[in-house]
Amino acid sequence: MAKKVLVAYGTTNGSTAEIAEAVAGVLREEGLTAEARAAGAVASAASYDAVVVGGGLYAGRWHRDARRFVRRHGKELAGRPLWLFSSGPLDASATERDIPPVPWVQKAVARLDARDHVTFGGCLREGAKGWVARMILRDGKGGDFRDFGRIEAWAAGIGRELKSG
Ligand SMILES: Cc1cc2nc3c(=O)[nH]c(=O)nc-3n(C[C@H](O)[C@H](O)[C@H](O)COP(=O)(O)O)c2cc1C
Repeated sequence: MAKKVLVAYGTTNGSTAEIAEAVAGVLREEGLTAEARAAGAVASAASYDAVVVGGGLYAGRWHRDARRFVRRHGKELAGRPLWLFSSGPLDASATERDIPPVPWVQKAVARLDARDHVTFGGCLREGAKGWVARMILRDGKGGDFRDFGRIEAWAAGIGRELKSG
């Protein structure tokens, strides 16, 4: 039977959810069973063979829903192949170089023995919640900096690893 993968995400404005959907889509193309779900809506990770957790970055921190998910389900996650990702930078930096995880995520990588962490570029579009978001947009600093080629390549690597082990 195909391995079942959960791609859980913490998002405020939806762009991390779209990354998670893209990751799950690639995993399905690789022949795995994969579903992207809001981290806050997942009651248990026990029925999954592997887990990917992603969170948007806000003020130097991983999205609260992603942190809460990892805290609540730490035992289950520690016993499964686990990958983490962040999405944030509103410029090309994430495509140009590897951006290390923020400290909380770095500790989670170590504690749960995650196989990898990657930072993808972020996205901020008109209609985003909050006054800081509106200020960034007003200053012309919004935009979509997600590199779906890189996202899909990363997901394909996860697929290969899961199929080979
Ligand atoms: C209030 C605010 C704070 C942010 N702080 C950071 C940050 O500390 N680091 C970063 O890389 N990106 C930061 N960003 C950019 C977001 O991480 C980016 O828009 C991301 O794609 C949001 O994910 P979401 O659409 O899933 O909520 C910030 C954006 C906003 C609106």
